[in-house]
Amino acid sequence: MNVHDSEKVVGTLIQEGYQQVESVEAADLILYNTCSIRDKAEQKVFHRLADYKKLQAQGKKFGVLGCVAQQEGEKIFERAPHVSLVCGSASYQNLPVMLAQLEGKSRLSDSHVSQQRLDMWHPQFERKSEGHEREVAHFSPILQEVGFAGSRKPGAGDLVRITGLDDRQTDKCFETEFTARTNPHRGYITIIEGCDKFCAYCVVPFTRGKERSRTSQSVLDEARQMADLGYTEIQLLGQNVNSYRDPTGNKSFAELLAAVGEVQGIKRVRFMTSHPRDFGRDIIDAVDAVPSLCDHVHLPVQSGSTRVLDAMQRLYTREQYLERIGWMKSAKREISITTDVIVGFPGETELEFEETLLLLDEVEYDSIFGFKYSPRPNTPALSLQDAIPDEEKVRRLAVLNEKQRAIQKVRNEKCIGSTLEVMVESRNEARGQWSARTSQNKVFNFTAPSDAQLIRGEYVTVVTTGSFPNSLLGEMVI
Ligand code: 5AD
Ligand code: SF4
Repeated sequence: MNVHDSEKVVGTLIQEGYQQVESVEAADLILYNTCSIRDKAEQKVFHRLADYKKLQAQGKKFGVLGCVAQQEGEKIFERAPHVSLVCGSASYQNLPVMLAQLEGKSRLSDSHVSQQRLDMWHPQFERKSEGHEREVAHFSPILQEVGFAGSRKPGAGDLVRITGLDDRQTDKCFETEFTARTNPHRGYITIIEGCDKFCAYCVVPFTRGKERSRTSQSVLDEARQMADLGYTEIQLLGQNVNSYRDPTGNKSFAELLAAVGEVQGIKRVRFMTSHPRDFGRDIIDAVDAVPSLCDHVHLPVQSGSTRVLDAMQRLYTREQYLERIGWMKSAKREISITTDVIVGFPGETELEFEETLLLLDEVEYDSIFGFKYSPRPNTPALSLQDAIPDEEKVRRLAVLNEKQRAIQKVRNEKCIGSTLEVMVESRNEARGQWSARTSQNKVFNFTAPSDAQLIRGEYVTVVTTGSFPNSLLGEMVI
């Protein structure tokens, strides 16, 4: 979600006349997009902002975007007085106005002509199989060419304070036709923003605001534009895509999914993330009916224990979750199922944790993202008793990941011999292999004849000759 938010913010700013620069050093304005879903995200952000302080003397300006901006609000100005802009995701639609305000001051006093630049850096958690997560830094810098000087050196009376924090009740989505997508073949489309579910551990409803959907017409228009630009894979995005409600009442989520799958030129459609409570059987019917809908569903379970699910305010039982898994298993194509699990939620007993382990055996996921419960500001779970010690959370996470690894090993071994269509992603020269993705979203590494001139984004047929817990191995079929 954050990656795509950044693509939209970058695109909007380019449209406003900004351009990208290659480094923080080259930038005059640095925007920092943040995520606070887990861990001590706010501490990391304040550390990073403290690092930026030394750049202030060079006249650079700083803005904080995203969940930490929304969560910490004006406290950011107190702890990092060199920051000029604090803006939550529900206010992105106002960014051009806010930036104009930010620069209005400079315009008044700057006298010679040069370039105003803007940098954008957004760390987020790149999810990896086996429940590990890795912080990655993305640089999406932009440089604005305007007819006035780079920022002047700020003086004591100069502090500009601009906030975008009050839009969480908005009915509007951040729609822009200027998304700066980083991948030319596969792109995201947000269909619903915010979340009304209020799971007991989750900060998202507080940071991203209330649920609001885009019209099916606007989503389809964007999908068609992407197809015209040569995109072949689309991922529909939302915190809970299953509660999508077309404001014009024309399409349910399943109908929208099918309609995007039928856009000419689109070969693969994915969707993320689903909530089991709202996950309807009609989604599986759509996957059965429309071949371009990928045979992969990510359905976060969080816990295999109905008691813990209730404490998490997840609004479904283990049995109801398994009923949805049953729908997927009876689909015409074999659907790859993946999930998110939280271990060490307050009060989770050893037996309840074991119920989650048993669920892994029962569902046989193709991959899981496992997380240690992390207390988040404002959330109801903060007041729960019986916190699980960190060492115990670490142990449970390791047990969970080890079990899942064994399941994946067996599941991937069963793929040997199968012939699949994959989308080429990259070349690994050292190994003499191409790396690609299957419709089930598995990594597929393969060899091809030296005269096969493959290109990124191309679809090829491969046969599976080997497997690992996290990837498949094979050869191109000519
Ligand atoms: N602690 C640990 N994991 C969390 N997630 C969300 N909030 C928390 C939290 N407070 C996980 C959930 C969710 C995924 C995106 O992040 O598993 O599905
Ligand atoms: Fe958070 Fe629950 Fe909403 Fe997902 S459904 S974003 S876990 S509150």
